[in-house]
Amino acid sequence: MRGNVFIFVFILAVLNIFFWQAFYFHETNKKYLDQIDSRLNNTNDSTPWQGCNPTQIPTTGKEAELIQYGYKLVTNTAYYLGPNGIVKHNNNALTCQSCHLEAGTKPFGNNFGKVAATYPVFRDRNNGTQTIMMRLDDCFQRSMNGQTLDSNTREMQAIKAYITWVGSDCRKTKRNLEPA
Ligand code: HEC
Repeated sequence: MRGNVFIFVFILAVLNIFFWQAFYFHETNKKYLDQIDSRLNNTNDSTPWQGCNPTQIPTTGKEAELIQYGYKLVTNTAYYLGPNGIVKHNNNALTCQSCHLEAGTKPFGNNFGKVAATYPVFRDRNNGTQTIMMRLDDCFQRSMNGQTLDSNTREMQAIKAYITWVGSDCRKTKRNLEPA
């Protein structure tokens, strides 16, 4: 008799655990799905793509120097490549950020956010594929009244490295920088 009561209570306890487990699982899932729904329905999403902040440019690592140089070229183009440029007299006195605001990091400011992720792309004007380097040449020639630069030059490599960095997941980096 005692044994039966024990087994009965034991079964009740096990069922109880299953019930709460299932309930908890359902609730957390529901909360999660609700969150996604509200995000999708929220047309006033105030968090557009956040550009990388130049203070986040890496200072160590293989690419660091190249990215830093790319940033300098994008923000002070004429100093290096303008009519009196120290590297080459290549184009007019505009700088890339005359048109690509805040070094191409500003939301809705003709930024570089999606460049690394979308190039190479198909483009009629080029009769085929357009690479990042070709797109840079377009801006040198058409936007800055200048000449193309060889893709092997340190300048082109640096601008490409910088643009690729801008398109990397900086939000994650920012979050990582914030104290927990
Ligand atoms: C006079 C204005 C102007 C200047 C200066 C300029 N650009 Fe542009 N750039 C544009 C315009 C306009 C576009 C086309 C934007 C579009 O297609 O939405 C563009 C497009 C680009 C793109 C492709 C963007 C994309 O999302 O497909 C890249 C990369 C780029 N420029 C890099 C540069 C670099 C690097 C410099 C400096 C060396 C520079 N540009 C200078 C106006 C300019």
